[in-house]
Amino acid sequence: MEHADWTAEELREHGAAALDWVARYLENIRERPVLPSIRPGGLLEAIPAEAPLEGEPMEAILADFERTVLPAVNHWNHPRFHGYFSVSASGPGIVGELLSAALNVNGMLWMSCPAAVELELAVMGWLRRWLGLPEAFFGMIHDTASTSTLHAIGAARAAADPDLRENGARPGMVLYTSEHAHSSVEKACMALGIGRKNVRKIGVDSAYRMRPDLLGRAVAEDRKAGLRPFCVVSTVGTTSVTSVDPVREIQAVAAREGLWHHIDAAYGGAAAMLEENRWMLDGAGEADSLVMNPHKWLFTPIDCSAFFCRRPDALRLAYSLTPPYLASQEDPKAVHLMDYRIALGSRFRALKLWFVMRHFGFRKVCSIIRQHIGWARELAEEIRAHALFEVAAPVTMSLVCFRLKAGDEATRALLRKVNESGAAFLSGNVLDGRFVARIAIGNIKTTREDVRQTWDAVRRAGEELAGGA
Ligand SMILES: Cc1ncc(COP(=O)(O)O)c(C=O)c1O
Repeated sequence: MEHADWTAEELREHGAAALDWVARYLENIRERPVLPSIRPGGLLEAIPAEAPLEGEPMEAILADFERTVLPAVNHWNHPRFHGYFSVSASGPGIVGELLSAALNVNGMLWMSCPAAVELELAVMGWLRRWLGLPEAFFGMIHDTASTSTLHAIGAARAAADPDLRENGARPGMVLYTSEHAHSSVEKACMALGIGRKNVRKIGVDSAYRMRPDLLGRAVAEDRKAGLRPFCVVSTVGTTSVTSVDPVREIQAVAAREGLWHHIDAAYGGAAAMLEENRWMLDGAGEADSLVMNPHKWLFTPIDCSAFFCRRPDALRLAYSLTPPYLASQEDPKAVHLMDYRIALGSRFRALKLWFVMRHFGFRKVCSIIRQHIGWARELAEEIRAHALFEVAAPVTMSLVCFRLKAGDEATRALLRKVNESGAAFLSGNVLDGRFVARIAIGNIKTTREDVRQTWDAVRRAGEELAGGA
């Protein structure tokens, strides 16, 4: 029988060429500038407006990939990509992703692919134990932390207002989070119709941790005003400075006030797996939900966001709806993931995480993360010891926020200079009204030498700017 797709022989040939390209790319990635020098619209102009009428040979497509696409790629997998939260796709994760594309299953229902559903539940069980969460937490995988948090807040609201499913949302529902929480919390409230004006940004202490006393006060004031407090979101590893909100104390307020407590540990969850960092998630076992992103600091290719929820009944209340064509097994062991989320279908994301967790194992994963944290502390010491620089926030994980003492303009110029050099990529932020540069360490291929090279590039740029260069 004729078909249009490749023969096994063609797949072998082109697949081997692509895999060889991947191996060479990763082997020689340090030779590339971390960021491309391309202006907005540059790639768009280079791509024809019309897709081809007749097919083209793979060689031509791969050559164009190298010539046209690659020059516009930010090399996130580069060991000196330190911007945002530095991440990496490890070898086992890449292989897992490849196999999942080949299987091309959809994990919407148990019967749509038992393996996708049950491996997802199994690896979420593994990760739950790595995080030290109790068995009562049901785990599933979303694409991003933003989606996980949206699901948590939607479920929290449904739990507080069971009529919502039929009648729509009541007004006046109020959510609390810290002024350093990720924008995804507020965005979820916009999308869910809660409204930004019903998001209370609770103040922080001198280490950027949410203040439980201010939380309690805000809830009391809102109740007095006739509003309906329903949810608090704490953060373990804030994006700005990786501060850790006092989870246990926030949980105490949540329990007293009947609030759903969601923990955003998208980045910090990985750090909290280390024995010496267990305090970071102290009290999390009593919270209602938690997100941790393996695609951030667990060496898994994007996308993979682990969402844990102690109240799966609330997820079902908020998100289950089964049209007749999807009616399926009633067996309680047959879990249908579509009942716990907005999306019907999902990729087989668990496979890549399973490869990563099995291949490295808990001890190795912890030792890599521990090294990253150690290098961040060493780097902070170097920065502190230099007359031109200062560290801008405590280093709790593997993020170092710093600036030039000369001020915002100088720090912005420093960032531009380092990033344009291609030696490393750092991102910036505004902290307490002042501009700071951020160096995050989180790539599995990063070595101590890479961190030293990054610091050399930063130091040199700072000294040149101070010397008027
Ligand atoms: C603490 C925190 N929460 C949530 C997010 C959003 O992550 P995602 O891109 O997976 O939605 C980020 C992104 O950096 C983050 O740092």
